[in-house]
Amino acid sequence: MSNDSRSAAEAKRLEQLWSGEFGNAYIERNRTAGEHRAAFWAATLAAFPVQRILEVGCNLGGNLQHIASQLPPEQVYGIDINQQALLELHRLVPGVNALYSPARELPFRDRWFDLVFTMGVLIHQPETTLPLVMAEIVRCSRRYVLCGEYYAEQTTEISYRGEHAALFKRDYGRIYQELFPDLQLRQTGLLGRDEGWDDVTYWLFEKP
Ligand SMILES: C[S@@+](CC[C@H](N)C(=O)[O-])C[C@H]1O[C@@H](n2cnc3c(N)ncnc32)[C@H](O)[C@@H]1O
Repeated sequence: MSNDSRSAAEAKRLEQLWSGEFGNAYIERNRTAGEHRAAFWAATLAAFPVQRILEVGCNLGGNLQHIASQLPPEQVYGIDINQQALLELHRLVPGVNALYSPARELPFRDRWFDLVFTMGVLIHQPETTLPLVMAEIVRCSRRYVLCGEYYAEQTTEISYRGEHAALFKRDYGRIYQELFPDLQLRQTGLLGRDEGWDDVTYWLFEKP
């Protein structure tokens, strides 16, 4: 098997995991995951005003519910690989654009959004696909790129619900800057339980 087909197979393995029963069970376990995140989104959108926004791996809207209360819902987009999550997003956050897509092939034109972000999604990308997913995110943003992910100085695989190679802590901020040296870091920090997350490190970049 060539490196390219091995890398595509690894990406597909994780996409299939999230689009099936494993992903559906995540939805049920995490229905209330977004309930303390309003303050973070209010502060972030006040400091970095945007008009059109995309979340990659939005699930049922733990972030988009707060964003859609600040922006017109028709300017709010989420993509996900799990159809059940998208149905729930339609029901729970009416009016937002909920689209099925793998993160490595975003169905949008270049610079269509003011901000493109992930929260807890890059951690589930294999080594081989991560640069492609980051490139798609940067491509689709006109101005800001945000990620909130589990941090480790060196890439570290963490065992995740019995699945092999399904969760990786990494220095995502450094990886973005190595791949896209023009990105300017505007804000970074740690999001703990008070903010509605589980010790997630975030980096907010601006494109030149
Ligand atoms: C841990 S959840 C995070 C959900 C949401 N971002 C939040 O903060 O509440 C990961 C989400 O990313 C989606 N996902 C994982 N890999 C994906 C991929 N390659 N393409 C698109 N969505 C993906 C999953 O289906 C799931 O909804």
